[in-house]
Order: sequence, then structure tokens, then C-alpha cells
Amino acid sequence: MDVRWIGTEPMRRCPPYRACKLIFSVLFGVWSAQALEMSVGKIPYLEAVNGSTVMLPCTYFSCIGIQNLYFNWQFNDNGTMQRVCESVIPTEGVEPKVKIFRDRVEFVGKNHENNISILLWNITFEDGGQYTCFGRNPKEKDKNHSAIFNLIVVDELRVVDNTLTIIIASAVGGAIALLMGFMLLKNFTLYVLTKMEEKNKECLVSSSGIDNTENGLSGSKAESKPTPKKK
Ligand SMILES: *[C@@H]1O[C@H](CO)[C@@H](O)[C@H](O)[C@H]1NC(C)=O
Ligand SMILES: *[C@@H]1O[C@H](CO)[C@@H](O)[C@H](O)[C@H]1NC(C)=O
Ligand SMILES: *[C@@H]1O[C@H](CO)[C@@H](O)[C@H](O)[C@H]1NC(C)=O
Ligand SMILES: *[C@@H]1O[C@H](CO)[C@@H](O)[C@H](O)[C@H]1NC(C)=O
Ligand SMILES: *[C@@H]1O[C@H](CO)[C@@H](O)[C@H](O)[C@H]1NC(C)=O
Repeated sequence: MDVRWIGTEPMRRCPPYRACKLIFSVLFGVWSAQALEMSVGKIPYLEAVNGSTVMLPCTYFSCIGIQNLYFNWQFNDNGTMQRVCESVIPTEGVEPKVKIFRDRVEFVGKNHENNISILLWNITFEDGGQYTCFGRNPKEKDKNHSAIFNLIVVDELRVVDNTLTIIIASAVGGAIALLMGFMLLKNFTLYVLTKMEEKNKECLVSSSGIDNTENGLSGSKAESKPTPKKK
């Protein structure tokens, strides 16, 4: 249950952010076009098993270009922001020298195509949480810009969770199938009953019809039908 909630939460946050950004861009078009933008990609979270190695993606974008762009990665540890790494990129395309403050962290973006992603080796449960990719471009009035990426660390237990879900799903499915079977049976019985009733009614209607048109002729259906054909 928890896992599912965590999984869908950032997705729900996405569209309002986009709408906001769109409105923002329209209203402050000129200003927005000049602002530095930090991006952690379309899916700002990752679920990974403890012990695995993950990449925290981040790229920057600037319309007017960068000069001595300062960037860092921060980890939100119970409300206190811990620096993971930091550096200054002199100009575009130059590979920066990155200071790293945390174990098992590697800078892998190398500033190729504005890429400032990092790698977290052999993640533990303590590594799970919120990571902020932060940037400040002196060319753009030193304004702060950042993007947040969530790392969710899970263990193999999730597989068990899945089987449980499957069991529940199949149980529910079975119940539905049973219900549908019952409904079908009920419907079939009702159908048969209605058909039988209809037959009775048909008999009543046709006989009464005959009574009305043929006035008093009490002949059966079989006898009355061939007569029009002969005419
Ligand atoms: C993940 O954590 C569990 C519980 O702490 C541990 O038993 C398991 O070995 C860990 N898995 C890896 C791949 O480190
Ligand atoms: C963070 O908070 C949780 C619960 O609020 C606590 O168990 C944990 O020890 C805290 N971690 C640190 C590093 O303060
Ligand atoms: C990650 O774990 C593997 C196997 O336990 C080990 O060989 C490797 O050195 C670890 N890497 C880092 C960066 O700690
Ligand atoms: C950033 O660089 C890493 C390592 O080279 C690569 O895996 C990743 O796909 C790159 N991301 C983007 C958005 O180019
Ligand atoms: C930008 O971030 C720095 C910390 O990196 C902070 O000291 C400064 O107050 C921030 N500026 C604005 C305008 O938010």
C-alpha cells in the first residue's frame, strides 16, 4: 500500500507543475527564456533495491549560456540539507573538477551536453530520500534554480508484496468470475422462465387475436395460418 502511494505521488504532482510552468512562461516569457533551468527528467523519482547502483540524473539549460555556473547536489537528511557534491563549470563543454562529500558517490555527467548526473554506488536504505540538483549562473543574476529527485530504496520483500497482490487480484478475479457465473446462471434461468412465459402469452395473444378477427372461430393457430396463403 505504502509503496503504491509513493510510486504514484510524484506523477500526480507532474501535471500541475507543467501547467504552472506553462502559465509562467506565457506571463513572463522574456524573463523565463533567460532563466537557468535544472532538470531531473520527466520521471523525478526512482525505486531501487538496496545494494544496487543508481544514477541520479540532472541537466541544466540556459538560453544565454553559462559562465562559472555553480552547481551542487544536496541530500535532504531529515530537513537538514547535506551537500553531496559541488563544483563550478567555467564554460559550456568543460569538464568540471567536482568535490565529493559523501561515500559511494561518483560524478558521471562530465558536463557532456550539460549533464551533471551522479552515480550512487551500492545504495543502502539510508540513501533513500530527496536529492536536490541546484544551480546558479552568475550570468543570470545569481538566481537559484533547482530540481528535486526522489530515491526510494526497497528490498526484495517487494517481490513478496507483488505475489500477495497477485494472490489478492486472482482471488478478486475468481470472486468476480464466480459472481458472473452466478449472474449468467440466474439470467439463463430468468431467460428460460421468460421464454416459457412468453410462449404462454403468445398463445394467449394469438388465440385472442383470432377470436377478434375471425369472430368466434375457435380454430387453432395451425389451422388459421394456412388460410391467408391459400387466398
Ligand atoms: C538489503 O537489505 C536486507 C535487510 O537489511 C539485507 O538482508 C539484504 O542482504 C540487502 N540486500 C542487498 C543486495 O544488500
Ligand atoms: C530521521 O528521522 C527518523 C524519524 O523521524 C529517525 O528515526 C532518524 O534517526 C532520523 N535520522 C537522522 C539522521 O537524524
Ligand atoms: C560496491 O560493492 C561491491 C561488492 O560488494 C564492491 O566490490 C565495490 O567496491 C563497492 N563499490 C563502492 C563504490 O563502494
Ligand atoms: C548523463 O550521463 C550519464 C553518464 O554518461 C548517462 O548515463 C545519462 O544518460 C546522461 N543523461 C542525459 C540526460 O544525457
Ligand atoms: C541561493 O542559495 C544560497 C545557498 O546556496 C542562499 O544563501 C541564498 O540566499 C539563495 N538566494 C536566493 C535568492 O534564494
